[in-house]
Amino acid sequence: MRIGVVGVGRIGAHHARALRPAVTELVIADADAERARHLASEIGARAVDDVDALFSEELDGVVIAAPTAAHPDLICRGVDAGFAVFCEKPAAPTLAETRDLIAKVGDRAERVQIGFHRRFDPGYRAARRLVCDGALGWIHTLRATTCDATPPSAEFIAGSGGIFRDCSVHDFDIIRWLTGRDIAEVFAVGSDRGAEFFAAAGDVSTGLAVVRLDDGTLGTVTASRYNGAGYDVRLEILGSQRSVVVGLDDHAPLRSVEPSVDWPRATPHRDFMSRFAAAYREELLAFLDVAAGRQASPCTLDDALAAFVVAEACEVSRSEHRPVQITELQ
Ligand SMILES: NC(=O)c1ccc[n+]([C@@H]2O[C@H](COP(=O)([O-])OP(=O)(O)OC[C@H]3O[C@@H](n4cnc5c(N)ncnc54)[C@H](O)[C@@H]3O)[C@@H](O)[C@H]2O)c1
Repeated sequence: MRIGVVGVGRIGAHHARALRPAVTELVIADADAERARHLASEIGARAVDDVDALFSEELDGVVIAAPTAAHPDLICRGVDAGFAVFCEKPAAPTLAETRDLIAKVGDRAERVQIGFHRRFDPGYRAARRLVCDGALGWIHTLRATTCDATPPSAEFIAGSGGIFRDCSVHDFDIIRWLTGRDIAEVFAVGSDRGAEFFAAAGDVSTGLAVVRLDDGTLGTVTASRYNGAGYDVRLEILGSQRSVVVGLDDHAPLRSVEPSVDWPRATPHRDFMSRFAAAYREELLAFLDVAAGRQASPCTLDDALAAFVVAEACEVSRSEHRPVQITELQ
């Protein structure tokens, strides 16, 4: 299997390292050619001088981890070259560009996988099985959280699309995937304590959305860039018969103040790469199956659009300070 990787910054380099043992040949390109060469020599891959050169290679698939603004064009180039395409979320920076992309990809969409890695995390998978089996009864409340230990760079924030499109979009996707329901309505607020570059980018450093699913289930989705205790991603699923939580293990960055509780004790994760290493590996192995024609995309452009629309609704809600029906944006 011959796979290309475009963009080897934070997440792209991580993907390239995870892919290397699983493929025959790995070809790397980055806008910063020296970065591509350096990583290639470290992991036994081959760097090409620029992105154009990568798309003229004979490949089975391409993994796109360049900044979001470049995604639509790179996805189209990959599809047009006949490659299976894995692209990091979000598929495009705006709703209009996501819809335009879906139209351009057309009936080749089953060869395009978007990087919602939580679908491959063992905890979220176990929770989904319980929800599907009805083992929790009916769900009365969902509480999702995604917190960075420290904020990304000002440059990243400026191009990220904001906390709901960048962080909470993972929670919106996993709620849809896990419950099999769509989010129908949101009310979102944010605060911008911390570095000034959040406000300068029109973003917030902490966000909270109240969500209502199309079957009436209620939930909250919270995110922060300043969770000094550690990287914290959890989902509580509270049912009429049983309640479970994803992400509450020995590394959870929470400490109980109850005198009799001395757990969790392990060092918390500092970032998504250590917290989700297994999930990233599994999603890339699934992509190799897509590239080999053994399965259709397990996370499609339509899925990406459905999660993105919710994030977009949160931004409308936050700026207009009102509840927003998802149908307003459809
Ligand atoms: N699924 C996840 O958990 C997750 C985590 C982090 C980032 N992401 C997504 O991955 C993407 C990259 O994020 P990052 O944090 O790795 O960014 P980054 O800035 O660390 O890395 C981006 C890399 O792409 C290169 N680049 C820039 N423009 C390019 C172009 N046109 N063609 C090829 N290479 C180009 C840069 O030189 C850099 O090496 C973003 O879309 C982000 O939303 C997803």
